[in-house]
Amino acid sequence: MDLIRIRKVKKVYKSGVTAIHNLDLNIKKGEFVFIIGPTGCGKSTLIKMLYRGEKPSNGNIIVGGIDVGKLRNGKVYKIRRRIGVVFQDFKLLNKSTVYENVAFALEVLGLPRAEIHSKVIKALELVGLKHKVKQYPHELSGGEQQRVAIARAIVNGPKILICDEPTGNLDDNTSQEIMMVLEEINKLGTTIIMVTHDTEIVNRMKKRVILLDSGRVIKDYPEGTYVNEVF
Ligand SMILES: Nc1ncnc2c1ncn2[C@@H]1O[C@H](COP(=O)(O)OP(=O)(O)OP(=O)(O)O)[C@@H](O)[C@H]1O
Ligand SMILES: [Mg+2]
Repeated sequence: MDLIRIRKVKKVYKSGVTAIHNLDLNIKKGEFVFIIGPTGCGKSTLIKMLYRGEKPSNGNIIVGGIDVGKLRNGKVYKIRRRIGVVFQDFKLLNKSTVYENVAFALEVLGLPRAEIHSKVIKALELVGLKHKVKQYPHELSGGEQQRVAIARAIVNGPKILICDEPTGNLDDNTSQEIMMVLEEINKLGTTIIMVTHDTEIVNRMKKRVILLDSGRVIKDYPEGTYVNEVF
């Protein structure tokens, strides 16, 4: 069964803008999927609805059997625990160390100290930053800050990792390094959905690519194909 099933989803913002039109999409467990398309086409809106950052106006978003749009507010944590999110601007706590940034989400859950420690070290090892646990974000490069954000997103073993333009602020070499980290995380079993404007990255990775335009899926390229669109 598909891990994510999107059925006839429509999103109309309060302003009256329709960002997503009756969209259908399935994503399987373990897939790596790029979402591309021109600015304003609804990419961020679509992925926000997966973790209930926004609610669909119509239709169903089923993630691992849970109808995300229908969850009561008090139950939203159920979906947030299954999905890690990474943004273009890292969103780190600037007054906290690398270790503290990654540990924070686990402390909120009230996990025992020793378990937090081993999970944080494992996540930082995976992104190649174990040696920087005591540094503060301003002491790191952009690529390193994004690695911390990725470690924080995966520290509790989410089933899905959502990335909204994770390389948008990084140079080409650093972007490639981040993509290698994401590929490694995907190989370990996490489903990855990544929004990007970078066609070069998309064509280097050769994963499934979903092209949106005006809130609709207009192409769904299977893994292994080249994409011609440039935005
Ligand atoms: N909170 C909001 N309230 C009202 N309209 C919104 C809101 N967020 C997005 N929109 C509108 O919905 C449409 C889709 O926006 P969205 O942010 O999903 O696009 P995007 O594809 O992620 O664009 P970009 O590539 O620039 O990030 C746009 O017309 C945008 O102006
Ligand atoms: Mg966006």
